Amino acid sequence: MSAVTVRVPAKVNVQLSVGGRRPDGFHDLATVFLAVGLYDHVTATPAEGLRITAAGRDVDRVPLDGTNLAARAAVALAKRYGVEPDVHLHIDKDIPVAGGMAGGSADAAGALVACDALWGLGAPREELLALCADLGSDVPFSLAGGAALGTGRGEILTPLEVGGEFHWVFAVAEGGLSTPDVYRECDRLRRAGGGSDLAADLPAPGADAALVAALREGSAVGLASALSNDLQAASVALRPTLADTLATGLAAGALAALVSGSGPTCAFLAPSAGAATTLAAAFPAAYPALSPAPGATLL
Ligand code: C5P
Repeated sequence: MSAVTVRVPAKVNVQLSVGGRRPDGFHDLATVFLAVGLYDHVTATPAEGLRITAAGRDVDRVPLDGTNLAARAAVALAKRYGVEPDVHLHIDKDIPVAGGMAGGSADAAGALVACDALWGLGAPREELLALCADLGSDVPFSLAGGAALGTGRGEILTPLEVGGEFHWVFAVAEGGLSTPDVYRECDRLRRAGGGSDLAADLPAPGADAALVAALREGSAVGLASALSNDLQAASVALRPTLADTLATGLAAGALAALVSGSGPTCAFLAPSAGAATTLAAAFPAAYPALSPAPGATLL
């Protein structure tokens, strides 16, 4: 095989309920992932050794060494199957870097699927999902796509039914936010409010039944009233201009607004395709996208 390209979607967390900090440093989550039609493409070609190149949005902030999650994915897959990680991975980015939309996770899932095909390994899906979970909490969902409830640290997935298309607009911020920093700020805000931030003291979070029903019914109005993100206050505390971004989208006709994951990308749910176009025009850099979207797909 000479070249393999895999398309992988971004995600938005329509529910992100954060429990306490666990002894391993991660937080218990109940999160509802929704894949959105904004994609990175990962192309694998034969090479001697491992090489990463990138093009597209935010490309200057994509690491091109072994720390890139796509490189780590290729190495992990090669190790698991006892082959050499000989591959050139080219990443074409459309998902914002460090934007709260799982761009790095998408590249890792794409690299796994691309290398599996290039190297002719035929890895079972369960094996790929297990490798994904080792690489990061959001990586299994990048492989799966669609909609799913994520529990544990987000890596344990239960697929959810989606009864219709939703129109989103994503307002991209200048620069990224570090996910660990946002979780740390969330913990700090909890302690500053007089509460505990520890898993031992806090109830385990659960799925929001009204939100799951709205997804199943394909009801944008129902989904809009149920959107929630426990990391939002922390993201806004670290990047106060996000409050203005959220207000701008609401004034421009969004049914609802929230920070995507740990931010700083802001997500707006629009009532129609036309409304999404109008909404996107209210920002210097905003992109309409449909959901749900399929997971990692070999093109
Ligand atoms: O799993 P991933 O490598 O994407 O996580 C990045 C960081 O985000 C973790 O090191 C941790 O600080 C934080 N995190 C967390 N709880 C989760 C997921 C991520 O605290 N459930």
